[in-house]
Amino acid sequence: MVEVGGNGRIWLLSGEHSSYALRLTRHDELLHLHWGPRLALADAEALAAEPPQRFRSFESRLDGREEYPVEGGPRFVRPALSVRAADGGGGRGSEWEFRGAETDDEVLRLTFRDPVHRLGVTLHYRMRAGSDVLERWATAVHEGGPGDPALDLLRLDSAAWTLPRADRRRLSHLHGRWAAESLLARAELTPGETVIGSRRGHTSHRHLPWVALDDGTAGEEHGEVYGCALAWSGSWRIAVQQLDDGVVQAVGGAGHDDSGLVRLAPGESYTAPVFAGLYTGGGFGAASRAWHAWQLAHVVPDAHTPRPVLYNSWEATKFDVELDHQRELARRAASMGVELFVVDDGWFGARTHAKAGLGDWTPNPDRFPEGLKPLADEVHGLGMHFGIWVEPEMVNPDSDLYRAHPDWVHHRPDRRRTEFRHQLVLDLGRPEVRTYLWEQLDELLRSAPIDYVKWDFNRSLTEPGAHTDPSLPHVQGLYGLLDRLRAAHPHVAFESCSGGGGRIDLGILSRTDQVWTSDNTDPLDRLPIQHGIGQIHPARVTAAWVTDSPNEQMQDRVSSLRYRFVSAMAGVLGVGGDLARWSGEELAEAGRWVELYKRIRPAVQLGRLYRLREPQEGLSAVQYVLGDDPERADEVVVLAWLQAQRYNESLPPLRLAALDTAAEYEVLAGGEPGEVLRGAVLAHRGLRTGLHGDLDATVVHLRRR
Ligand code: GLA
Repeated sequence: MVEVGGNGRIWLLSGEHSSYALRLTRHDELLHLHWGPRLALADAEALAAEPPQRFRSFESRLDGREEYPVEGGPRFVRPALSVRAADGGGGRGSEWEFRGAETDDEVLRLTFRDPVHRLGVTLHYRMRAGSDVLERWATAVHEGGPGDPALDLLRLDSAAWTLPRADRRRLSHLHGRWAAESLLARAELTPGETVIGSRRGHTSHRHLPWVALDDGTAGEEHGEVYGCALAWSGSWRIAVQQLDDGVVQAVGGAGHDDSGLVRLAPGESYTAPVFAGLYTGGGFGAASRAWHAWQLAHVVPDAHTPRPVLYNSWEATKFDVELDHQRELARRAASMGVELFVVDDGWFGARTHAKAGLGDWTPNPDRFPEGLKPLADEVHGLGMHFGIWVEPEMVNPDSDLYRAHPDWVHHRPDRRRTEFRHQLVLDLGRPEVRTYLWEQLDELLRSAPIDYVKWDFNRSLTEPGAHTDPSLPHVQGLYGLLDRLRAAHPHVAFESCSGGGGRIDLGILSRTDQVWTSDNTDPLDRLPIQHGIGQIHPARVTAAWVTDSPNEQMQDRVSSLRYRFVSAMAGVLGVGGDLARWSGEELAEAGRWVELYKRIRPAVQLGRLYRLREPQEGLSAVQYVLGDDPERADEVVVLAWLQAQRYNESLPPLRLAALDTAAEYEVLAGGEPGEVLRGAVLAHRGLRTGLHGDLDATVVHLRRR
């Protein structure tokens, strides 16, 4: 809901439990007024009517108070907008005039213009009904005419978020590396700047574009928490600044540096990605639930359809893809209840190893002499959907495509072409590259009944552009290609993968159905990864596989099928082991876990998440809840894991959240048949898990009677 007051110069956006307010001064300065609990318009007007603070000559009257700090004037904070004419005329910096405001039920648009650069800037705010997530983004348009110089947007951030003053601020963010992505880091903020981001041309394994801020006292289920997350899959930056008066501002957008994001010719425009923000008074848990609900309702396509249990052959075969072996894997996968069978890398071109074939998206004639259709038909005949792996943005120098078009990759004519994993990156900013990929992929999807595409991206961009960020047109091209493929093949689901979790963000999630969380499939290592990614993204989009034990990738750690399944059940369950080597007993046990997962899947994938105990050394657990009333769960699923038990240690019961304490809950799984537990006991004393020993795990499924 958007309300307007103060003679059309105060705006108040209100969500379910929070409000956001801003105002325009008579000098056309756009100042932040409020972000926090719900306010009435009269409250925002009272805030705006307060006399301004006094400032001394070395201080800025605008720093930390503006909605969108531009470079120039009495400002010294990191600017969201920095612009100069390509010929240097007019210098850097902006001084804008207010043009006008437009509002409807959910959206506010405020337009400004810099008369010297003839740059139009519009700030957008959208608060959707039923949510507390405020979506913000900015657009810039070169309003000059023919003959005017181009404008270099050195930086055009999506938004700047201003927090109310507090004695302390603590920053939470997700960091990591390949095979250990999305680990939660939480530390006191100090004066100055903390910058996270990616200079790699993709979101990266190093950081997810999300931060949360609290005053140091928030917990899982209490305290004020602010968060912001960027919907962008190229290079990016979020800078959190604590100013000298304690005000904290987080400014973020596409691109990592201030040296040139995009060049606009007269008439051209640029739209920055959404930088979404959220306030909650209910702790980190409520923040995650609000992020999840918003993504399921407004970001992820078709999010209310649960994702199927998949089988992926990568860890079983690596590049040795062979038709009969695939058939055998498919039969075994079907027998355990798998719903989607995915052939990974190695089915196309000369791709029998990592050094060749990327770029040539036709089935390898030795491996699939009649194409993919016979296998796809057989998989469908077994009652499963059929999926394939592709890495369309890449090319091996040893490929027909590269031999024909060596100029299609990101490169500088006078420099060496940097290779990683023997591959170069196609420049999706070029229309001919997009046309080629569209034709190849469209043809591939028509050539066989393919239901699912795992879209990989296995190396970072390395060659810097001339004036602008090369990841920007690349990602715009990628988004356009994905959108076009989805529109032409609406029944095909897409997974975003980038060597595991190197491209997980709200931008890619608005056009893919799930993400590959990490190449690390060790069930113990996965728990902190899942704990981290769940801060922002719902289990509905985070794929997890049960693989072989000992797990060769993870220094041969041995774990039970039970532990591996319960770990992977905290996401979109998949299986990725070499089923040809699993015993009949193992296949049967796996089948029982898959069946149980299907029963708990609506709660896990679409329910509300409560983190009961963090994944540290001992016992950890999560709870998923279904039901219309957030305080009186109809259905509850608890997943609990015990890493190791000390001698004579008795484990604490798990106090469950959101239960109806006046009701009884029937145990559907994880207890005695017919067992009934009292809601009040589960909430106050807690659930006894019965776990013991090392690497034990359980699933408890309860339904209100
Ligand atoms: C990446 C992915 C893996 C697998 C390989 C195939 O590393 O993350 O799951 O698909 O590529 O080359």
